[in-house]
Amino acid sequence: MAQAPLLNVHHLQKKFGQFHALTDVDFKIYPGEVFGFIGPNGAGKSTTIRILLGLIRASGGQATLFGQDVWRDSVAIHRRIAYVPGDVTLWPNMSGGEIIDMFLRLNGDRHSDKTETLIKKFGLDPRKKARTYSKGNRQKVALIAAFSMDADFYIFDEPTSGLDPLNEQTFQAEVLALKARGKSVLLSSHILSEVEKMCDRIGIIREGRIVETGTLADMRHLTRTTVDVQTTAPVTDVAALAGVHGVTVETDHHVTFAVDADQLTAIMAFLTEKGLVALTTTPPTLEDLFMRYYQGADQAVDGK
Ligand SMILES: Nc1ncnc2c1ncn2[C@@H]1O[C@H](COP(=O)(O)OP(=O)(O)OP(=O)(O)O)[C@@H](O)[C@H]1O
Ligand SMILES: [Mg+2]
Repeated sequence: MAQAPLLNVHHLQKKFGQFHALTDVDFKIYPGEVFGFIGPNGAGKSTTIRILLGLIRASGGQATLFGQDVWRDSVAIHRRIAYVPGDVTLWPNMSGGEIIDMFLRLNGDRHSDKTETLIKKFGLDPRKKARTYSKGNRQKVALIAAFSMDADFYIFDEPTSGLDPLNEQTFQAEVLALKARGKSVLLSSHILSEVEKMCDRIGIIREGRIVETGTLADMRHLTRTTVDVQTTAPVTDVAALAGVHGVTVETDHHVTFAVDADQLTAIMAFLTEKGLVALTTTPPTLEDLFMRYYQGADQAVDGK
């Protein structure tokens, strides 16, 4: 991409005592991009985000937002970002409406028509004291404030874990509206369908290290098609071919397996030679790919 990145994270590291929470976190986010940040519990997503927010200091590497250092220039950066965490804590004795307005004032913004529209869209009763709100309602308070801010960069760390499906839809629509206005978004989420629907590029983090970044199209190249085939000649030797994984032998003439996208043509030619009796292929989903990353290094995409 010719544009300069808005966020540039390079070889970021974080130690808590002797524990290396982040060993090598490396990614960029460009203007107008929605970037999905996914990975198992404890992988380092929130730690990375807390460094970007200037809440904790990195032990090594660099992170710049708008070309400014996230630690040294955090005050200037804060005026241009909006942040929503997954576990929103609010002042118990203030009403939701008062808290929204306070979040806005703290960011140099004010209550606008947009704020009113968002309160209606998310169906929040802003007159109730925060202590009476459910988890989802607390999240709505933070989301309404963030979406009514005129920020340049929006950071969401599992923002929808307490939202019902209707509010989840509202969240997705608002993120896409930000993107349409050229804003950039960092979205950490365990809801893979949400990531698949909204994100232009994705970074996968495991054990403090980014193991994959790319567009959804890039990721699809890494996916596998499931094949169930019956042939006239014995077909069990398909297991020896490159790109074939997880072969289940039903009979000598009937096997199921998964095949890497880039080997599909070669495998189909091989099967055709065997004389096809029946063939079912199931297209890959990104969810399958993500799950492999969640499951463990020994099942990672390259099979190593
Ligand atoms: N203040 C801290 N002191 C010590 N260890 C910490 C601290 N904060 C985080 N960690 C550790 O760093 C690792 C990364 O945690 P982090 O919260 O960034 O994970 P995450 O990817 O956000 O996970 P989740 O999906 O569960 O939110 C974990 O092993 C966690 O226990
Ligand atoms: Mg987290």
